Amino acid sequence: MSQAASQAVKLRVVVLISGSGSNLQALIDGVAGGDLPIEIAAVISNRPEVMGLTRASKAGIPTLVLDHKNFASREAFDIELMRTIDAYTPGLVVLAGFMRILTPAFTEHYLGRMLNIHPSLLPKFQGLHTHQRAIDAGETHHGVSVHFVTAELDGGPVIVQARVPVLSNDDAGLLAKRVQKQEHVIYPLAVKWFAEGKLKMTNGKTELDGELLAENGYQIEANDI
Ligand code: GRF
Repeated sequence: MSQAASQAVKLRVVVLISGSGSNLQALIDGVAGGDLPIEIAAVISNRPEVMGLTRASKAGIPTLVLDHKNFASREAFDIELMRTIDAYTPGLVVLAGFMRILTPAFTEHYLGRMLNIHPSLLPKFQGLHTHQRAIDAGETHHGVSVHFVTAELDGGPVIVQARVPVLSNDDAGLLAKRVQKQEHVIYPLAVKWFAEGKLKMTNGKTELDGELLAENGYQIEANDI
């Protein structure tokens, strides 16, 4: 990397988590490997003592816990969360296993600059227990989507999807593992596109490299099962 490039101002990113933080780890590894031109300014968890906070601390990233149980309402929590995030002046907010339903005021505030990862081929299987639901529905393929966050839960425009086959001996745990491997590929990729200025939300759609993407976003077929 040239000296000028290495000194360029990096996109500041705040990552929100609730648990293990394996997607956060994929971002940390991308930064450490020089592939991801971002600075993770802070990691915020709504649950104390989760593994993701340890991962962040090990990487020298500031961490904060904002426990939703200490707030009287969803609105009050989201207002404080916005205040906390904005203190870090991020250009992008990344939801990485952040298990909270967000208020419209929150999603509106970060519209076009907040991403989520959801373990299904959206618009299929919004909500929880996606792996079991995909198996029960007899799907031949399942996968993961990265999307812009809008007021509709798991409903914002899809940026990128990775598909994996559903195998005859799959249970939800096995399938989840196969999907998670792809999560750790496509989330850093989408964040990189955003950091490079290639990705934006335009009139409720995903625009990548100047082209509006179709409903399912950019498609990646996982060839290693
Ligand atoms: C992932 O499966 C992601 O798709 C979903 O929550 C999980 C988070 O896992 N939104 P981790 O905390 O990143 O390990």
